[in-house]
Amino acid sequence: MPKPVLFVTRRLPASIEAQAQQDYQARLTPSDVAITDLLTQAEGADAVLCCPGDTLDSKAIAALPASVKVIGTFSVGYDHIDIAAAKARGIRVCNTPDVLSVATAECAMLLILAAARRAGEGERLVRAGKWDGWAPTQLMGTQVSGRRLGIFGMGRIGREIARMARGFGMEIHYRDMTRLPPDLEQGAIFHDNDDSFLPLCQVLSLNAPGGDGTRHWLNEARIGKLPMGSVVVNAARGTLVDDGALIAALRSGQIAAAGLDVYNGEPRLHADYLTLENVVLLPHLGSATTETRDAMGRIVLSGIGAILAGETPSNLVV
Ligand code: DGY
Repeated sequence: MPKPVLFVTRRLPASIEAQAQQDYQARLTPSDVAITDLLTQAEGADAVLCCPGDTLDSKAIAALPASVKVIGTFSVGYDHIDIAAAKARGIRVCNTPDVLSVATAECAMLLILAAARRAGEGERLVRAGKWDGWAPTQLMGTQVSGRRLGIFGMGRIGREIARMARGFGMEIHYRDMTRLPPDLEQGAIFHDNDDSFLPLCQVLSLNAPGGDGTRHWLNEARIGKLPMGSVVVNAARGTLVDDGALIAALRSGQIAAAGLDVYNGEPRLHADYLTLENVVLLPHLGSATTETRDAMGRIVLSGIGAILAGETPSNLVV
């Protein structure tokens, strides 16, 4: 039997491209540029392996060749795919859950520490050759140990952040739709409303999925409920944040510092972030470790293979 045809939208880690070539008639690409013409590019493909930067909205799904039965996304988030449109066309979707939780939580911790301890400003100072030496009042930040960390979205990544933050002596609060069982909660304090949650968040980490349900969740009204001088980090999705409101709060000092790995409309970002010293900006690095990207590749390829074989893999979205 001929191997199924797999159309891949971006360059993948070498070991994953090798596995794709072994298991599929893989149409690989040397490019990291977003797809433009799915109908032509995926012609005759049984499956498409896409990435978070590929917008598979209802129009793109409608434009997929009839041969496509599966979309696998090289990400845990799938807000770039119109799931209802895929389902309506009988296309199954799978993703990369679990394997990136630790790496993404590490990135959130990196942002928390870098924002609170003004690491971006310090790095820029040294690189600019403007550092005159140690001084008692230089670049004083906020110690995170002993502070309250609020996690909005206590899924797998949120729980990893909680585990790591406990090691820093932080007190963990979380806001989610439902309370976790005690073995997953691990002493974290549940909040079922913003009014009890936000005023406690000396550090707020956004870890909810993107999409319409959470669009601009961090808006002016919610920012106004945070304690003065809080730290905010986002390693989830840019769409969770109202950029105008966050920028105003970073300017006023309501939010002392922010750390962002993701942006509305990335790779473009609101130009005003670039003018602010008190925001640390990363280029969507959350899952970017060699081990994690290999694991993501393995799980998405195995999900695609299972679906094409008529099975139901654990990473099936729809
Ligand atoms: C995801 O998996 O959704 C990340 O944003 C990319 O690793």
